[in-house]
Amino acid sequence: MKKIIAFGVIAIIAVLLAIFGRDLLDLYRLQSYITTSTEAYQTERGSWPHLTDACTGCHGSKGNSLNSPYPSLAGQPAAYLSAQLHNFASGQRVAPNMGPLAMTLSRDDIDLLANFYSRQSVSANVAFSPDEGLKEKGKQLVQTRGCAACHGGQLMGHDAFPRLAAQGHDYLLAQLNAFATGERNESSGAMKAMVAALSADERKAIATYLAALAPQPK
Ligand code: HEC
Ligand code: HEC
Repeated sequence: MKKIIAFGVIAIIAVLLAIFGRDLLDLYRLQSYITTSTEAYQTERGSWPHLTDACTGCHGSKGNSLNSPYPSLAGQPAAYLSAQLHNFASGQRVAPNMGPLAMTLSRDDIDLLANFYSRQSVSANVAFSPDEGLKEKGKQLVQTRGCAACHGGQLMGHDAFPRLAAQGHDYLLAQLNAFATGERNESSGAMKAMVAALSADERKAIATYLAALAPQPK
């Protein structure tokens, strides 16, 4: 009797597998697809809620800002991004939007954010229509003042030196002015020295040229 029941169970399982086997396999594949893609997303952006969700509103999707006073983070060197987040948190760099937020980030959060944004590709400033005269003047200044020596041949940044190409115009101008007034400082003093030799009009021309510059692949 026991044998008959055992055979019966095996027979039923065989029939069920024959009928639903494909669907079960598909279900299994779907399940493992969901698990792997969720894992990939989480390794990239951290566990839910994603840290980057707090940045998108101001810095744009994947760090390409559509709002000129808010800087793009995409493609900035990880070392630079991480240093700035630590500077905001310590109050060494003062920005009302960023200070309180940076204070809530752990060291690991900062590493994750810096790595995430540094890997994103940079979009050109398509919405920006530069004054051609200012742009040309800015180009001359950038070439003669040797900005590329630190910011990289294509002005795409590296290590502690930020990318300038295709950054937002209003943000660039605000930073050049902030270095000029001493509102923004950095330990090497390099930028203070650079802007000290520039008039307000020259800073405007440089911001125009840099914002209009097409980003180069690294
Ligand atoms: C409410 C708007 C807002 C939000 C939200 C926000 N930021 Fe910012 N962020 C700014 C502004 C404005 C600046 C420019 C500050 C200045 O003028 O110095 C900035 C600057 C930065 C900079 C410096 C960029 C550079 O080129 O030096 C980094 C890095 C940064 N933010 C990272 C983040 C990250 C990461 C998040 C999310 C965790 C975030 N921000 C969320 C508004 C915001
Ligand atoms: C000797 C090296 C050096 C040279 C030359 C130099 N820079 Fe910089 N620049 C830096 C460093 C370092 C920083 C980052 C400062 C910080 O950590 O806050 C910086 C930051 C900047 C920023 C702020 C970017 C951002 O995302 O917030 C702008 C704008 C800038 N430089 C423009 C220029 C221009 C324009 C020139 C040429 C006229 C120039 N720099 C030449 C070293 C240099």
